[in-house]
Amino acid sequence: MADLSVDVAGIRSPNPFWLASAPPTNSGYQVKRAFAAGWGGAVWKTLGEPIVNVTSRFAGLNYGPARMLGMNNIELITDRPLEDNLREIAECKAAYPDRAIVASLMTECRRESWHALVDAVQSVAVDGFELNFGCPHGMSERGMGSAVGQDPELVEATTRWVKEVARVPVIVKLTPNVTDIRYTARAAQRGGADAVSLINTINSLMGIDLDTWFPIPHVDGKSSHGGFCGPAVKSIALNMVGECARDPRVGIPLSGIGGISTWRDAVEFMLMGSSSVQVCTAVMHHGFRIVTDLIDGLNTYLDDRGLASVRELIGKSVPRFVDWNDLNLDYKVIARIDPATCISCNRCYIACEDAAHQCIDRLVDASGSAQLVVDEEHCVGCNLCKMVCPVEECITMVRVDAGASAHTERTAIGTVIKGGTVVTATDNARADIFIEDGLVAGIARDIKADGHATLDAQGAYVFPGLIDPHTHLDMPFGGTVTADDFASGTAAAALGGTTTIVDFALHQKGDSLANALKRWHAKADGKASIDYAFHLTIADGRPETIEEIPQMIEREGVNSFKVFMAYKHVLQVDDETIFKVMRAAARFGGLVQVHAENGDVIEVTVAEALANGRTEPKYHAATRPVELESEATSRAIRLAEVARAPLYVVHVSSAMAADAISDGRKRGLPIYGETCPQYLVCDETDYERPDFAGANYVMSPPLRAKWNQNVLLGKLKNSELHAFGSDHCSFNNCGQKELGRNDFSKIPNGAPTIEDRVSILFHYGVNAGVLGLNQFVALASTNPAKLFGLFPRKGTIAVGSDADIVIWDPLASRTISSATHHMNVDNNIFEGMTVRGRPRYVLSRGRTLVAGDAYVGETGRGLHQKSAPFYPVAL
Ligand code: URP
Ligand code: ZN
Ligand code: ZN
Repeated sequence: MADLSVDVAGIRSPNPFWLASAPPTNSGYQVKRAFAAGWGGAVWKTLGEPIVNVTSRFAGLNYGPARMLGMNNIELITDRPLEDNLREIAECKAAYPDRAIVASLMTECRRESWHALVDAVQSVAVDGFELNFGCPHGMSERGMGSAVGQDPELVEATTRWVKEVARVPVIVKLTPNVTDIRYTARAAQRGGADAVSLINTINSLMGIDLDTWFPIPHVDGKSSHGGFCGPAVKSIALNMVGECARDPRVGIPLSGIGGISTWRDAVEFMLMGSSSVQVCTAVMHHGFRIVTDLIDGLNTYLDDRGLASVRELIGKSVPRFVDWNDLNLDYKVIARIDPATCISCNRCYIACEDAAHQCIDRLVDASGSAQLVVDEEHCVGCNLCKMVCPVEECITMVRVDAGASAHTERTAIGTVIKGGTVVTATDNARADIFIEDGLVAGIARDIKADGHATLDAQGAYVFPGLIDPHTHLDMPFGGTVTADDFASGTAAAALGGTTTIVDFALHQKGDSLANALKRWHAKADGKASIDYAFHLTIADGRPETIEEIPQMIEREGVNSFKVFMAYKHVLQVDDETIFKVMRAAARFGGLVQVHAENGDVIEVTVAEALANGRTEPKYHAATRPVELESEATSRAIRLAEVARAPLYVVHVSSAMAADAISDGRKRGLPIYGETCPQYLVCDETDYERPDFAGANYVMSPPLRAKWNQNVLLGKLKNSELHAFGSDHCSFNNCGQKELGRNDFSKIPNGAPTIEDRVSILFHYGVNAGVLGLNQFVALASTNPAKLFGLFPRKGTIAVGSDADIVIWDPLASRTISSATHHMNVDNNIFEGMTVRGRPRYVLSRGRTLVAGDAYVGETGRGLHQKSAPFYPVAL
């Protein structure tokens, strides 16, 4: 006998059959009888404030002789006091400790109410919670149930509230009354749900009584919409389960619900990704005893197939549930009618004549008897004749294609990159790459292109997708908001060869880190066309903030925390905060980043300049001398040394600050430095540009004397600086930079650099003969991937890595200009520079985003990437 036990995100039960939260789990009496009959688990009827209910409540859909093909109900959640339910839950758990008892919960959409309900219910030994975001009637009119489940933001927020206090796994039950259930499933995942269950009932009205004209069921002659369930909804539920199962953004276990009546239904749901199945209508129809048939049927099925555990079924059909575009257009079946069993009822003939393709011929012989024969040449294999035939096996569908070829609307199954030189941070080799399912599946000297799409990499380098570890998209700053959001910024990044960014989620003083992250998820989700991860900035050193750091690392996949030593009164924090952040981060696997400039002194120098009428952009640089960057860098390094913390210094602009990093490293400290394209090719004279164009170069730290550029490039070469970030932070000259027309300190700080970062490093680093190709890859991709917990999924080309790949033509040139760039901003600080080397193709998880000049990606295809905890890598 196979092992039927399952584990749904930590909730264990001896078999996968759970009773859904519904009338059969209304009381301890029922649940105990169900467990005695053999049910593996029960989701207790939804607990909440006791409510008033109505009679009557249910209506059945009969079809011909089949009774209760579907069922509609207008009953609400439990109408019994919470104490009674909790006492009975405790009794059931004591009597049946091996069974799963999950408490379904619903309360008003307030954090305190959810905390109170969760605290009350976990005073008894429940194995998990199921959040009822699905009930479509009665409770939704009160702002609960599906009113929450239809709004991804509320789903995410409420799940997060529950996760703040829940000590057992949390399942979110989804409503099918939405256009695309994946959005709410993803929101649940973002909120920290351990699993989702689906589906709840579907909005419905069962019918109208033709004599009374009353809706059915009626309450004193009136009705409202109810929730539909039962065998009739099975196909809808199975599809939604499959959609969630194949969506990488959901990525958490599923518990399937919806019309499951037989062991066969249960197997189908498990093959489509359900770890457990929940049953209600079949029990309301036939009683708890059906579990015996469910268990026997499942056991026999597993034994017959030689499967040792039910877990071997879970998700096995998911890879076969694909987009229409991925179906094999070369596959062909036709119908064959067996004359020996045909009863000449003509149903197939009529269906094909009237509703399909007129390819069944009715041949009448001399004796007047008719025979039905398929016109095989014209039969399209639609199945309709077989579906209407009343004789089992009389019509069979026969495969007639040779099975030798497969082509789809998407034209190819895999992709072969042919003829290029593959360059990673460590190796160069002439090799082809085979990509399948978004991953690198093979690297070999010569890979045959048969049947696959090919991308020509002759004469090109094949780099791992380049990673920008420093971007600011859709960020409020300097009294305005950056010109690029995640849609425009990531598309421009892709055109430049960048396939992953790490953006800064801005924490606000007094608020939680979780809220900051949530806001940034909402900005990126559905908009980013390349993958993204997040750093968190830290705005205050309150104990609550520091205590949240481990959660951010362990649960939210953020491995780096940035503190600002400048931007006084806005982002700057004091040394005490920096030190506390460093200690907490170091302890739990976080990397602290610093913006190193002495903000207190800058406050003085700026005030003095303005008092003396020095208002033009050039005074931005004059008031932030290199010494103040170097001092802050050294101070941060010393603080990290005492805190025993690794440190990453962002946007190093000057030789003096870079020297401070080199000194720290000579002392053996895990200090890493980043510089940016603007500091390699722009300098302090750019502030003198006429017509307020100097404002476009206002960034912090500011541009320096030209001689610093070679020093920084040399430090990149010698591994004294380790990563190359854009610090993209774009503002239009018109309307944004202009805020500081009469006062340089009001010019929003930052420049648009996301699109040209890679070209600048290649041209001024590799083409100039300073950097080797491997160093270029390390700085622009591999090192950021290692530092920010994305390696080896990103940052290299290896079998099993994401197929984020840039096919780079080293000879193609372009001249950078705001007239042709793709960033949503009216200026480009590299305007007029001609650079050699540009992407020929850019792929993100196997999908082409850029082909030549054209952006062919999809907005919103980018996925959030959780960063693994940081460990001090040797770079
Ligand atoms: O001027 C800059 N660098 N703006 C972006 C914010 C920061 O300091 O990184
Ligand atoms: Zn900064
Ligand atoms: Zn920045």
